[in-house]
Amino acid sequence: MKTKLISPSLLSADFGNLERDIKMLNESQSDWLHVDVMDGRFVPNISFGFPVMKTVKEYSDKFIDVHLMIVEPEKYVEEFVAQGADLVSVHYEACTHLHRTIQLIQKSGAKAGVVLNPATPVLMLEDIIEMVDLVLLMSVNPGFGGQKFIKNTYKKIAETKDLIISNNSTALIEVDGGVNLENASKLFEVGADVLVAGNAVFSADDPAKMIELLKI
Ligand code: DX5
Ligand code: ZN
Repeated sequence: MKTKLISPSLLSADFGNLERDIKMLNESQSDWLHVDVMDGRFVPNISFGFPVMKTVKEYSDKFIDVHLMIVEPEKYVEEFVAQGADLVSVHYEACTHLHRTIQLIQKSGAKAGVVLNPATPVLMLEDIIEMVDLVLLMSVNPGFGGQKFIKNTYKKIAETKDLIISNNSTALIEVDGGVNLENASKLFEVGADVLVAGNAVFSADDPAKMIELLKI
């Protein structure tokens, strides 16, 4: 997989015009499409589930990047892969048997990512880094779009990069939350490979142009 990728978050799209927004992303320089699934238990918000995944798969040409903010994700990962997820990321904080869940995702035919909340240290990944395809660092507390970027993330990117290198891992680093034109180039510079952007893209006058600018 190449680096310096943008994964616009569907959470900030216009749900009355989902087909239009997904097609707009198809025409843009976006690389992935980030799908935020929230259950009202792991996070204090409910977003959407399988019916929306169906629409996403029907219209999107992009690599589907599913971020599960749900308890007991192991119950649903196979279904998300069956519905077209190319990558499924699960929270470290939501998985009692993370190793087993990562195996299950990969066995189902998708790439597997592990997500860390802002307060979870990178060192918790020491015994799983070898097998994951991606580390997703939350740069806001998960649950809502449009929040302020937490600057401690820069340090965590550097720590994740070190962990990846010292384990000869090929994992990508993705950053999610509060990404905008002010921090995107620095995030790529310190080692991020993929940036999720919701509010920055969908509140822009020209979302496709914003995606281009975030890559510079
Ligand atoms: C937050 C979600 C994010 C969110 C990002 O819980 O995981 O993916 O949509 O939105 P922005 O870019 O608006 O912070
Ligand atoms: Zn997300």
